[in-house]
Amino acid sequence: MSTLTQFDVLAIRREFPILQQEVHGHRLAFLDSAASSQKPRQVIDCLEDYYRRYNANVHRGVYKFSEEATFAYERARGKVARFIGAASQREIIFTRNTTEAINLVAQTWGATNLRPGDRILLSLMEHHSNIVPWQMIAQRTGAILDYLSIDGEGRLVLEELDQKLTEQTKLVALTHQSNMLGTINPVRMIAERAHAVGAVMLVDGAQSVPHMPVNVTELGCDFLAFSGHKMCAPTGIGVLWGRRKLLEAMPPFLGGGSMIKVVELEQSTYADVPARFEAGTPAIGEAIALGEAIDYLSAIGMEAIYQHEVELMAYALERLGNVPGLTLYGPLTTEQRGGAFSFTLAGVHPHDVAAILDGQGIAVRAGHHCTQPLHRHFDVPATTRASFYIYNLPEEVDRLAVGLEKASKLFQ
Ligand code: ALA
Repeated sequence: MSTLTQFDVLAIRREFPILQQEVHGHRLAFLDSAASSQKPRQVIDCLEDYYRRYNANVHRGVYKFSEEATFAYERARGKVARFIGAASQREIIFTRNTTEAINLVAQTWGATNLRPGDRILLSLMEHHSNIVPWQMIAQRTGAILDYLSIDGEGRLVLEELDQKLTEQTKLVALTHQSNMLGTINPVRMIAERAHAVGAVMLVDGAQSVPHMPVNVTELGCDFLAFSGHKMCAPTGIGVLWGRRKLLEAMPPFLGGGSMIKVVELEQSTYADVPARFEAGTPAIGEAIALGEAIDYLSAIGMEAIYQHEVELMAYALERLGNVPGLTLYGPLTTEQRGGAFSFTLAGVHPHDVAAILDGQGIAVRAGHHCTQPLHRHFDVPATTRASFYIYNLPEEVDRLAVGLEKASKLFQ
């Protein structure tokens, strides 16, 4: 396959120390970035630099290191805001990950705004982290969950919006890109429809923000949640973006230090956003390193990253189409689809597929990928999933195809 990629993938690979290793005697083909991406030297160095040179708590000390740490932490917040086109860095809340960001909205916005009989619209392709928090708050408030269905190709059945998005719908919470199928959803159009009935729109951007340009102003949503660790940053740092008006009207999530104005024995008053939602010592080095990861990805270019993954996906659809016994779940074209895809291989358990591939140095994920309702829809208990990022090469698609052919033969 000739590649049109606008950046030098081999040069990028050299910046990822982990990719220099061999696994079971083979060069590592890392095809599990949808679970967690690898980290470039720049990000690892940035984290180490914080711990070696200016480690101190933020917003507390008046000494040099604390001021330096506070400056770097807040500068990272500004980088995140610019990266997603937020109106202000005050709209950026650092969380642990996407899951925590969605739980924050469910437990604060949800607890304040949902009444018995109100409806929350989700879809069948949501990750558990965009289902369970809504189940929990629905049980507390008496709200009811609705789900948009998907068709055989793994796309939302948009005609259902007419009947499932009503005046009773108070919130639509939807993934931007499916972690199992790679489907990219028309969130902008759905946000417009949600607003037309007075509902608020939350977008789960865990699988989109790392892989394509995402601009909250263009999307027109009200909340966006995503994780650092899927976009070259460390684990333990995630982001909730919300419209300032909504955030300012929300009560706190966790109580403790940093999130207060005045504490008395019986009651307290709370800090303004974003501090109101950042109780306790945050993941300081990790947030700073997320800022570094954003610089790294921005220098490559998010549009170029998206195009690279579309090319790899186009090649994978063509190449894997020849593997006997392979069933692919999700869109069979690159139209509105990203670089994550799940499959089964006739007669071979998805975990055995993953184990056989591991023996050849190919890392993929096997299981239900935190999408049990989606697997139930396709009537499969588990699948194997491969996913691409900036450092993947067409030859890794070839290795995957050869590995699958071997697995198929082995089990016949
Ligand atoms: N949400 C991550 C995945 O899809 C863990 O693998």
